[in-house]
Amino acid sequence: MNILNIYFSATGNTEKVARKIEEVAIREGHTVSTVPVKGGVEVEFLDYDFIFMGSGVYHWLPGKPLMKLIDKACTGYRASGALPRNAPRRSHIKAVTYCTYGGTHTGINEAYPTTQWMGQFFDHLGIEVMGAWHIVGAFHGNLEALSVGGRMGDIRDRPNQADLDSLTEMTTSILKSLEEGAPA
Ligand SMILES: Cc1cc2nc3c(=O)[nH]c(=O)nc-3n(C[C@H](O)[C@H](O)[C@H](O)COP(=O)(O)O)c2cc1C
Repeated sequence: MNILNIYFSATGNTEKVARKIEEVAIREGHTVSTVPVKGGVEVEFLDYDFIFMGSGVYHWLPGKPLMKLIDKACTGYRASGALPRNAPRRSHIKAVTYCTYGGTHTGINEAYPTTQWMGQFFDHLGIEVMGAWHIVGAFHGNLEALSVGGRMGDIRDRPNQADLDSLTEMTTSILKSLEEGAPA
């Protein structure tokens, strides 16, 4: 498959996850375009067979640069007629959304709006979202103190090796499910 691996990462946690997804997808024999979102980046989502989209959680939502990119893409798709009412299914394209989050105040509930927001973009395009992954990520820099004593406990080393190992399994599994197809 031709895979888009697009992510926004302000402090490096989501980037770690995106790099692991890239490694696993290449190992599974796919072609992968890894795109860190920054100003000026443009992407044609409909050119891919499978899309991984990830972001850190900032105030419960994806990073502003990623939200801006999606807003701009929607404007273009609306103008070209690619976002019709009723969102007809494009069954040849699938997606996974994921985020890394600190969860200090309300735990995983802080992460759900981020993957839901990204998921609605794909749903509007008729793209099936096969998974929404929520991975714990430490606070860095002047917010470091928030990595201890919150709802998720001590998260200073997250995402850690165990997180990346389970991500490897999830990525492998979802890609294999598409290669193998449904049993007769
Ligand atoms: C400015 C800022 C705001 C954040 N807001 C939230 C939040 O509302 N909820 C949450 O769970 N984590 C929050 N976090 C923690 C980040 O989601 C977490 O550290 C994430 O892994 C960052 O991803 P990145 O390193 O890829 O940028 C925030 C972090 C920063 C720097």
